[in-house]
Amino acid sequence: MAWLVMIASLILVTWIVSLFTILILSFFPFTNHRAAPLRKRNNVLLVIAHPDDESMFFTPTINFLTSRRHNVQVLCLSIGDADGKGNIRKKELFQACVALKVPMQQVKIVNHPDLQDGFGKVWNHSLLANIIEEQITSHCINMIITFDNYGVSGHCNHRDVHYGVRQLLYDTLQKDIDVWELVSTNILRKYSGPIDIWLTMIWAMLHSSGTIQYFVNEHPRRSYRAMAQHASQWVWFRKLFVTLSSYTYVNTLRKIQH
Ligand SMILES: *[C@@H]1O[C@H](CO)[C@@H](O)[C@H](O)[C@H]1NC(C)=O
Ligand SMILES: [Zn+2]
Repeated sequence: MAWLVMIASLILVTWIVSLFTILILSFFPFTNHRAAPLRKRNNVLLVIAHPDDESMFFTPTINFLTSRRHNVQVLCLSIGDADGKGNIRKKELFQACVALKVPMQQVKIVNHPDLQDGFGKVWNHSLLANIIEEQITSHCINMIITFDNYGVSGHCNHRDVHYGVRQLLYDTLQKDIDVWELVSTNILRKYSGPIDIWLTMIWAMLHSSGTIQYFVNEHPRRSYRAMAQHASQWVWFRKLFVTLSSYTYVNTLRKIQH
């Protein structure tokens, strides 16, 4: 019993120290990058599968980019209609993006009959590639950020989005586009909340900054506000997820070589 209490206190103390570290880092944003590839202003396309992916998984990255005046476009490949709430969720995505300082006109939501939200719905990778390519051309995109081949939660739509981007790279030689994937971590790290920043930093140190980047969330409250815009999804277990999820506090991106 005594050792259980000890371990619990240890975790709690580490949690609090980590949270403070993030707050301190957010006051000194210039410490938050190894980011040679991000020195110039970029037109960034964030490619996601569902309204709320941006708020659940990508806010440390979005906050980093918008506060440095990178031009962020969001491409969401479904309206998230699995429960028939697609039209509501569409509006929520716009509001969440505004909370994240991405203007509404820079958010595009696709509602294609072959790309509907749901487990077991297979999305055609060539179709995805075509839609993504159209966005790239019309917005002079030079950087893409998306899921990796596990897609954080393992959702098949997230994984298909990754393969859609891969298909695009395979079909067309996009030489001047940098493509980065959000690294899926194991379940322990995924639910370690702010504590994950230490592992992230160590992991990043073992790699060159040309292939691994990490972003500590500079505006955690903005992330929370964005998530709260998804009112139809904002139930107690999602609040718990957002609080415990390391993706609320830090993102690791890996460069896709192509
Ligand atoms: C996938 O989409 C492409 C492009 O829209 C189309 O040519 C192809 O027939 C589709 N494949 C399947 C299996 O539906
Ligand atoms: Zn999703």
